[in-house]
Amino acid sequence: MGRKPFIAGNWKMNKNIGEAVSLVEELRAKLDGVEYAEVAVAPSFTALAAVRKTLDGSHIALAAQNMYYQDQGAFTGEVSAQQLIDIGCKYVIIGHSERRNIFGESNEMTNQKVRTALERGLLPILCVGESLGQRKRNLTFMVIDDQLRDALVKAPHEDAEKIVIAYEPVWAIGTGETATPEQAQEVHKHIRERLESKFGKEAAAAIRIQYGGSVKASNAKELLAMPDIDGCLVGGASLKADEFAAIIEGAKIKEVKGES
Ligand code: PGA
Repeated sequence: MGRKPFIAGNWKMNKNIGEAVSLVEELRAKLDGVEYAEVAVAPSFTALAAVRKTLDGSHIALAAQNMYYQDQGAFTGEVSAQQLIDIGCKYVIIGHSERRNIFGESNEMTNQKVRTALERGLLPILCVGESLGQRKRNLTFMVIDDQLRDALVKAPHEDAEKIVIAYEPVWAIGTGETATPEQAQEVHKHIRERLESKFGKEAAAAIRIQYGGSVKASNAKELLAMPDIDGCLVGGASLKADEFAAIIEGAKIKEVKGES
């Protein structure tokens, strides 16, 4: 299938510069020689420059947690795709449920961000996911379909394979409650089908779909064993080098299964 597992750590609003640098130093030491997975960390904006420097010469990629879709101008408090590229980011998380729910980001804004990221050469990690109420009312697929469709309006087909999707059920984020591998696989498969109808079979087969929501060392391997789960977006458990490295090790299961 050829999808390299991709594990990203979303540090959210945690760690000052010194703490961020210590964490990536530890991670570098632990991940030396790891080739079976691609790894990225997404520190706060304030730590990006220092983390970039600490990552020099390593395979760990730098990601940002958010961006704005304009290139420059009077947008107080915002950061552009070009600024993120300038500081050394390869990826940017877009449409995280905390952005949507706490900061009121709409599907339309998410779409503008995805398109700008691609145009500027930043790889988007587009987050989608249903709330507990939506799941209970059997609306999961409908919600995911809407989020995907709206976020990918006018996304250029030739860039499809650069997009990473993160399926993050809102009820599993930071709650300690994880979707079962079967629950997650069901949605991942559905997402891949939607991607197939939008971008075609070949592109859909190449797009990586991460699972996020209380991923830990103890559940990563069983999630990653699922055929359409190509990686993880990890919040809380990415803040400790041991735990995050153990999650990454879970991606070896893909090698065993011959999927990577
Ligand atoms: P969590 O967060 O791993 O702490 O549940 C995941 C995320 O929000 O990306």
